[in-house]
Amino acid sequence: AEPMRLPDGFVLGAATSAFQVEGSTTADGRGTSIWDTFAAQPGNVRGGATGDPAADHYRHWAQDVDLMADLGLDGYRFSVAWPRIQPTGSGAVNQAGVDFYRRLVDLLLERGIEPAVTLYHWDLPQPLQDRGGWAARDTASRFADYAAIVVDALPDVTGPWLTINEPKTTAYVGYGSGYHAPGVSDVDQMVAAVHHQLLGHGLAVQAFRASGVAGRIGIALNLQPVYAAGAGADDAAVRADAVENRLFLDPVLVGAYPDDALGDRPGQIPADPAVLDALVREGDLATISAPLDVLAIQYYGVTGVDSGGQNVQLYPTSDAPWQQVHPEGLYETLTRVRDDYPGAPPLVITENGIPDRTPEGTTDDPERVAFLRAHLQQVARAVDDGVDVRAYYAWSLLDNVEWAEGLDQRWGLVHVDFESQERTPKASARWYADVVAQHAVPLA
Ligand code: FCB
Repeated sequence: AEPMRLPDGFVLGAATSAFQVEGSTTADGRGTSIWDTFAAQPGNVRGGATGDPAADHYRHWAQDVDLMADLGLDGYRFSVAWPRIQPTGSGAVNQAGVDFYRRLVDLLLERGIEPAVTLYHWDLPQPLQDRGGWAARDTASRFADYAAIVVDALPDVTGPWLTINEPKTTAYVGYGSGYHAPGVSDVDQMVAAVHHQLLGHGLAVQAFRASGVAGRIGIALNLQPVYAAGAGADDAAVRADAVENRLFLDPVLVGAYPDDALGDRPGQIPADPAVLDALVREGDLATISAPLDVLAIQYYGVTGVDSGGQNVQLYPTSDAPWQQVHPEGLYETLTRVRDDYPGAPPLVITENGIPDRTPEGTTDDPERVAFLRAHLQQVARAVDDGVDVRAYYAWSLLDNVEWAEGLDQRWGLVHVDFESQERTPKASARWYADVVAQHAVPLA
C-alpha cells in the first residue's frame, strides 16, 4: 500500500537536551546546575552516572551536525544550558557559553537543518535553587531575563523556540516524588513549581515579543490520555486528566486553572486548592495565556487510573516502566487539543520515542522502528483529519543520560559508546532517514 505522505514543509527531526548529551560540565565558565548537584549525590542516579562526559556533545557538536546531515534530518531540537549562559542564574553573561550555541546554530543553518531551541530543559543554575528554585516566584523573572539573552544571541533560529520543557515533570518529579533534581518532596512546593514555571513561560514569551525577533515560540507539554480502568473509575480518571493535562493546557491556552486538579478526592493532587489560589497574583493568568505561535506536545504513552486514583497498567510497557505504549493515544491527544482548545496555535511534536537496547555487536533496534512507525502513522492520520501539526522530533538523536536512570536506557537513533564516544547509527536511524527522504510514513 501507499505510504502516508506528510504535508509539504512538515519538519522531521530529532531532539536532545543539554544536560543529557553535552558533558564538559565545568568547561568555559559553565556554572553548576541542579542536575550536577543531584547526580553527585550517591544513590540519586542509577550506576552513579553524572552529566560528564554524557555523550560529549560539547566537543563532538560539529561531528554530530554532520551526522544529522548524513541522515538528512530537516530539523534538530536542542536545549541551551542556562548555567553556560549565566553561571549563577542571573547577572553577567558568560560569552564562551553563548558562543557554543552560536557556532552550533551557524553550522545547522549552513547544513540546511532547522534549529529548534528549548530554553529550559531542567538544568537550573544551582544558585537559583539555593534561593528556592521553581518554588520561588523570583525564578520566573530570572528565567525571562535569561531567555532575553539567548533570543538576542540567536535571532536567526528558524525552528520553534520552546520556553520550558515539561513543567509537569519538573513539578511532580523534581518537587513531588523527589526522584529528579532538585530532589524535593513537598506538595506545596510542587504546586508552586507548577505556577512559577508557567509564569516563567509567560514572562519569557513577553521578553521574546519585546526582542522583536521573527521566530515562533511555544511551550513543550507532555500530555497523555488518562483512561478509566475498571468499575467506578470514571470520576477519578477525569480528575487525573486535570492533573496530567488540563492543569497545564488550560492556563496556557485559556488563561484559567481547572478547578478539579487539587483536592482530596481520588486522582487529585493532595493539596488544598487554596494553595494554588494564594500563588496566583493579578495579571499572572493573562501573562501565562499570551498567544503562542506553536504548542509543542511530547508524547510517550497513556495512563490507566482506577476508582481509587491509583495507576493501572493497561498497555505493554517499554524498558521504561512508566511508559505504556499505545500509539492511538497520540492521535487522541492531537485531536483532543484541536477539539477542546479551539484557540490553540499550530502543533509540533517535540518528543516521541522509546528506549531499546541493541544486542551486543549489532545495530538492531526493531522495537524502536516499530514504535516510530506506529506513532508517525498516527501523526499522519491526525494531519489527514485536519489537525494542524507542523513538525515531529524523535527522542532522541543520541543515546544519552536518561536523568535518574543514568546510561542504561538507550533512547538514541544513534548508538553512543560512552567510553570511546564513537557514534553508530542504529537500524532505526537508517529507517528514519528513509522516512525523511520519502517525506512519507510507510504502512509496514
Ligand atoms: C522526557 C524528557 C526527555 C527524556 C524523555 C525520555 O520526559 O523531556 O529529556 O528524558 O522523557
